[in-house]
Amino acid sequence: MLAVKELSLHYGVIEAVKKVSFQVNQGEIVTLIGANGAGKTSILKSLSGLLKPSHGEILYHGKNVAKLSPQKIVADGLIQVPEGRHVFSGMTVKENLSLGAFLQKGEQSSRLDNIFQRFPILKERLNQDSATLSGGEQQMLAMGRALMSQPQLLLLDEPSMGLAPLFIKEIFAIIQDIHASGTTVLLVEQNAKKALEIADRAYVLETGKVILSGTGAELLASPVVKKAYLGG
Ligand SMILES: Nc1ncnc2c1ncn2[C@@H]1O[C@H](COP(=O)(O)OP(=O)(O)OP(=O)(O)O)[C@@H](O)[C@H]1O
Ligand SMILES: [Mg+2]
Repeated sequence: MLAVKELSLHYGVIEAVKKVSFQVNQGEIVTLIGANGAGKTSILKSLSGLLKPSHGEILYHGKNVAKLSPQKIVADGLIQVPEGRHVFSGMTVKENLSLGAFLQKGEQSSRLDNIFQRFPILKERLNQDSATLSGGEQQMLAMGRALMSQPQLLLLDEPSMGLAPLFIKEIFAIIQDIHASGTTVLLVEQNAKKALEIADRAYVLETGKVILSGTGAELLASPVVKKAYLGG
């Protein structure tokens, strides 16, 4: 579904991502793990068309999307939930969800029902300003908004960031549920243990390079990963 080949990303003269290659097959959960500044968010931004590569290819369904506009990429079903959620404050939960569906033709009510089944709390908060939601609720809103556009490939940037353990558990269960209903997932996480537990495959990034890859189970058992990411 997605094949990233020798992707390099620059901010001015700084090379944040250095010839990174990875792939996501249809039906998989793939995770990118790595420390702060490793280049995870930069990679997701480039997949969404928000950051143009200085080198390499991003093949989505076999087509190079590296130079396409974000609008075109979203319309093709590659949808990102950005780091830090970015819900639109001053707008209600319902308005935020509707925005996620603005590219989709046809009625929204069945899709909204689907979102409410997955996130009952959003139904309770429907007419509340999104700025008044808790951090975990905002994460759910951001995910719900992305699901409104019926993604084929869902990119999640640190969905568990800043959440309490119980909420983290819930968010990961929801990710698995979304995946089980047919959406392919590329997950970026600092919570390496949780991410590796649900991932089919994973890549470890260090200072802009892939240093290790394998199945989730292989990386959970890897001494390098244990030492650097799982607290010994
Ligand atoms: N707009 C920017 N201008 C200059 N440098 C940037 C910019 N955005 C990111 N960088 C640099 O690129 C590198 C990778 O950043 P990125 O945000 O992709 O890392 P990350 O793996 O997502 O980190 P984190 O886990 O903290 O979110 C970092 O060194 C960062 O300082
Ligand atoms: Mg990041």
